[in-house]
Amino acid sequence: MTPDQLRQYLEFYRDLGVTTLYRREPPAPVAPSVEVAASVAPAPQPARPPMNELELPSLAPAGDTLLKIREEIGDCRRCRLHEGRHELVFGSGNGESRLVFVGEGPGADEDEQGLPFVGRAGQLLTQMIEGTASKEGIPLKRPDVYICNVVKCRPPNNRTPEPDEMETCGQFLFRQLMAIRPKAICALGGTAAKALLGTKEGVTRLRGNWHKWRDIPVMVTYHPSYLLRPYNQNAKREAWDDLKKVLHFVYD
Ligand code: URA
Repeated sequence: MTPDQLRQYLEFYRDLGVTTLYRREPPAPVAPSVEVAASVAPAPQPARPPMNELELPSLAPAGDTLLKIREEIGDCRRCRLHEGRHELVFGSGNGESRLVFVGEGPGADEDEQGLPFVGRAGQLLTQMIEGTASKEGIPLKRPDVYICNVVKCRPPNNRTPEPDEMETCGQFLFRQLMAIRPKAICALGGTAAKALLGTKEGVTRLRGNWHKWRDIPVMVTYHPSYLLRPYNQNAKREAWDDLKKVLHFVYD
């Protein structure tokens, strides 16, 4: 295993929330019986297996695709969120896009239709993407990007997903991102930022600057639902600025 592969494994485990790893010693050789031990020279100690023989779970199945990931999720009952859902919301848009938007989780409209960001927040997101692109002279429509969420099932009463729900569903988000391998990711709101960057830092502090998920640049910006509240209108300008940066970085 090369140092780069090892780094990728460690980053993968960190993203899944695994922060402590233990080094496993090879099993001790079985001691020979007393009679045999008296007549036979001590058996040589087995050498520690070389690194490339260690068995580690794969980072993601080789040749992973969005279709395979969706099939593996199936009629998911891995966490309590399945109890109240109507439709699982996997993601939509261009699966080969250079840009992926990650939200928090489906709301009522998304749960009804099985598609991400189709309610009021979704309409604002569409306006933000298409409006900014058109103003900046970038020929981009919403179906050209890929949009998904940290959790695929609607949390009851639109509450914030719990850490265990984010962890369970997060593995599928990470596989989606690895399968697409976009040039940049735009994290919409604090839950997406936390899932991707593993930080508790708020959006106000994170937004406007580039961060990284693995080796992919991540821009954090305000969640469109936050921007819909009348008292957050100043944030709208900042979100538009963030999006401008993302679009120029990806499409220039
Ligand atoms: N909010 C989200 O975070 N995601 C959606 O899909 C809709 C609203």
